[in-house]
Amino acid sequence: MQAWVIGNWKQNPATSQDVNILLDDLLANVAKKDQTTSEVSNRCQLMVAPSFIHLAAVSACLKDSSILCAAQDISAHSPSTGAYTGDCSAQQVSDTGAKWTILGHSERRQYHQESQDCLLQKMTHAINQGIGVVFCIGETQTQYDVKETLQVVDEQLSVIKALLAQQPDSANLLAERLIVAYEPVWAIGTGKVPTVEEVSKTHQHIKQTVAGFADSLGSMTVLYGGSVNADNADSFAADAMIDGALVGGASLKADSFLAIANAFDRASL
Ligand code: 13P
Repeated sequence: MQAWVIGNWKQNPATSQDVNILLDDLLANVAKKDQTTSEVSNRCQLMVAPSFIHLAAVSACLKDSSILCAAQDISAHSPSTGAYTGDCSAQQVSDTGAKWTILGHSERRQYHQESQDCLLQKMTHAINQGIGVVFCIGETQTQYDVKETLQVVDEQLSVIKALLAQQPDSANLLAERLIVAYEPVWAIGTGKVPTVEEVSKTHQHIKQTVAGFADSLGSMTVLYGGSVNADNADSFAADAMIDGALVGGASLKADSFLAIANAFDRASL
């Protein structure tokens, strides 16, 4: 199975100049990596998600490279245009050349009160506009402490079930255009990580749950996110249930981001 390593740049870097430095670094090192690794070992798909203000420029810059580009969110209100100040639609994202969007990140759920209904709208617009979705789910520290992880992810995954109920024909499309990222909220940016065994069990549960929604979702890609770095990537990559990583802080430097990608490359050999 192909691994995915995705960099969520969040509200970084500060300037276009810093974005260009990061991109130059990434592209130079990816080119070097492509020269030194055989095609067979090059199994990790890379993707980066810049902020909206940098999306079009990053997308244009990566157009002829192997690195994909994603938005970090899209409008729930309209798939195309409308009077929604501050929003960007799935169509506008698609117009930049970006083929994917992150949805449901815990920071959006926390700071923008994104509800299940809102996420269903966003996912519907993305899928109908041909934009793939990296759908983030995960429990808070309190929910983890009282062992509610599986209950929480089930509730969050019900958005996918609701989409399928509304559009049964989208099952095959979702199989190609949906990735789930399990990100325990307490592990994001904290340096704290669950054990690989805990992540593995949760991923197994996620895969079984979505397979229960539709047969075509039987081989869903499930990524882990939360304090992944160059030092711990090998241990996550070694587990067959972990298909890649959604990386925050460590994606802001080409060397740490590509070290994580290399760990998943090696593991899929
Ligand atoms: P960190 O890798 O900085 O913990 O962030 C993870 C994340 O939120 C990616 O979406």
